[in-house]
Amino acid sequence: MRGGMRLFAPLLTPVWAAQLLTGAKSFVDNPLIGSARLNAMGLHVARVRLAHAMTARRRAALAGMVHPEDRVRFDRDGVVEIRDFLPASLFADLRQQIADYRNEAREAVQGDTITRRLALDPTARRAIPAFAAFHNNARWRALTRYVASFDIEPLLYIQSILPNRHVAPPDPQIQFHADTFYPAMKAWLFLEDVPVENGPFTYVKGSHRLTPERIAWERQKSLTVRDGDCRLSARGSFRIMPEELAGLGLPAPTRFAVPANTLVVADTFGFHARTQASVSATRIELWAYGRRNPFRPIKGLDIWSLPGIAERRIGLRWWLADRAAGLVSHPWKAVGIKGAADE
Ligand SMILES: [Fe+2]
Repeated sequence: MRGGMRLFAPLLTPVWAAQLLTGAKSFVDNPLIGSARLNAMGLHVARVRLAHAMTARRRAALAGMVHPEDRVRFDRDGVVEIRDFLPASLFADLRQQIADYRNEAREAVQGDTITRRLALDPTARRAIPAFAAFHNNARWRALTRYVASFDIEPLLYIQSILPNRHVAPPDPQIQFHADTFYPAMKAWLFLEDVPVENGPFTYVKGSHRLTPERIAWERQKSLTVRDGDCRLSARGSFRIMPEELAGLGLPAPTRFAVPANTLVVADTFGFHARTQASVSATRIELWAYGRRNPFRPIKGLDIWSLPGIAERRIGLRWWLADRAAGLVSHPWKAVGIKGAADE
């Protein structure tokens, strides 16, 4: 615990305790979550088990809407790939309108890779009319909500991945990891082909399931990550070595080298990574993200999903993060007006 935190510990303890029933995941920022003693008594595993039980309940309530084939594949693999997702002419319009669009962008640097995001806010939606047809697609809406386990609007961005732009250690996202201790949704509609040399998304099929082997691994990790040398594991996104997968009864990872107009939706409790790109080609995608407090008993009632509010959340989040930047650093720097494909 840091010096300042120690001083204020008596005041913060109720806050830390309340965070146990939220998605808070950092073993370094919350001394209860990070406590090896509490985790030896089963705290981390209890949070994992309860979050997964609640997720299963909410998913059951959302299952009826999902395309039956998507549901079978998701339940089995934790990831669904759908090629030729949009009709060809609609996809061509969407790609062109996104290529022509420019607005305030944000960039983050991780290792040698730059990630750029443009919010799909009201301005973007007016400039990209083809987006509405994608956004209203019933299969998209049902699948992303089922995977997120909430009837919520995901956050939506135009995202560009620019690999090999810095002399730096590799992008930390190329290590296999789970994003969180609870199920969460990420989705990509790829606007360009993603060949192997571009560093495609990679997922360990079946690793979204909370098996006895996974529970044992989670328990073991929860005893050591806080004081380990992996900063991202300590912050609650546990890393795993490829050679550990077989011991968890898991297969070799699957690489999603896919053509443009492929949709991939994944539960990021499952182990995933980017692969190292051997070329510097920019990858452009529609990217969506959906997570909420995993302990919530109900699937809906989210004011942030209301029309008029949902599409303004990203701007609000960035604005708040900028205001709080003196207290907690955030990696998303404003870089001025840019298009997704700009250098
Ligand atoms: Fe991740």
